[in-house]
Amino acid sequence: PASSSSPIYSDREFIPANKMLECAIPEHLRKERTFPVSTPPDYQPPFPAYCARFPTQMADLVMAIIGAQYSDPGRNDGAGIATIKRFVTDCPESVRPTFWEVASVVDKAKALNLCVVAYWPSVEAYKGWQEQSGFQKWWDELTPDDESPGWFQEVFSPTVDRFETVFSNNAAPEGAANMQEHISGEMLEHAYWGSMRDRLGVAQDDNLEGERLGASSTNGKDGDTSTRRVRVPGKKNLTVIRSGQDWSGTLPKERKLYLETMHPVMITGMNFLRDEGRTVGCYNMNVWDVVDPNNFEANLERTFGLGYFDDLSSLEHWSKSHQTHIDIFGGFLMYAKKLENNISLRLFHEILVLEPSQQFFEYIGCHSETGMLASLQKDGS
Ligand code: HEM
Repeated sequence: PASSSSPIYSDREFIPANKMLECAIPEHLRKERTFPVSTPPDYQPPFPAYCARFPTQMADLVMAIIGAQYSDPGRNDGAGIATIKRFVTDCPESVRPTFWEVASVVDKAKALNLCVVAYWPSVEAYKGWQEQSGFQKWWDELTPDDESPGWFQEVFSPTVDRFETVFSNNAAPEGAANMQEHISGEMLEHAYWGSMRDRLGVAQDDNLEGERLGASSTNGKDGDTSTRRVRVPGKKNLTVIRSGQDWSGTLPKERKLYLETMHPVMITGMNFLRDEGRTVGCYNMNVWDVVDPNNFEANLERTFGLGYFDDLSSLEHWSKSHQTHIDIFGGFLMYAKKLENNISLRLFHEILVLEPSQQFFEYIGCHSETGMLASLQKDGS
């Protein structure tokens, strides 16, 4: 494995030397560093990547994951997710999320989860939506019962310096990047271990240490959560990753290459995090399928891993040391080469490093391994 400051690839044929590259951190968020970047000297990344440029006056953003859970997937009649979807579509336009999509996953407890992932360009806009859509009133009145699904809400509201996103394709923005003013030019800080940290404004003078999972996970509130409404407190510098893969635009040759050489390896890596993640600081991980927002079923050939880590260094450590990610990370260059850099596969990720007050987790009638409910479980259980 590469050391923390070495480039991952020595082969730089895809980008001509001396090309002008943009700094990932926008000018208005730059400050004197007490923690230096890991970018190697005279670095030229081996392939292009881009980030979103948000309006400079944008102070924070909201990403909300709101969903329904069926411990018996056969009981899903589509009504739960349809109800949630209505709150984002049937509300005044001024408070509607800028972007939303629907996703589904069968989790490790074999429960079916369907959710809306939605983004707002400020906490204020999100609060306006909560009230004006009627969502908050509906949510407050829910009670866990046998007849209805479980419900969950995971809401993140990072200041912009606690958020970063990177993507391989500059034509189609994903997730929060839909709130951009424009997409950056090709970026300097990517494709070496540590580049994620180098793209985060807050990491210029903060090492972003969190509460280590082992120490904070025995608060004794475990037990049966499937009959209760449970709120999980935020944790210092909790790190969220949403890492997306979209192969819907690939032609047969590339599709085969992706589906045979990369996707299965990614799934193995994500299953490790889902099932044994606690050993490496991961509270929870699921690979969600993005589904058709009209019938909530058809698979759109898009997936994303959504995971919660005790801090950024745990995520860094997993990504550079777990063989699955080393293989896909390194494999991406071979992939690009094989396709002569004509890549239609779209990759992106979003990283959020959050203050406790920027996290809201509430679960109504969900099983105890749902999302951050898993953090209430005793170690080893
Ligand atoms: C970074 C490949 C899925 C975690 C990267 C990068 C590549 C890559 C090429 C470098 C991006 C850049 O800076 O230019 C892939 C491929 C995937 C995949 C091909 C799926 C097919 C995932 C998933 C996760 C993940 C699902 C975790 C949930 C990370 C992390 C980094 C990273 C944390 C940043 C490492 C750092 O900068 O220190 N990946 N990845 N990746 N990936 Fe993945």
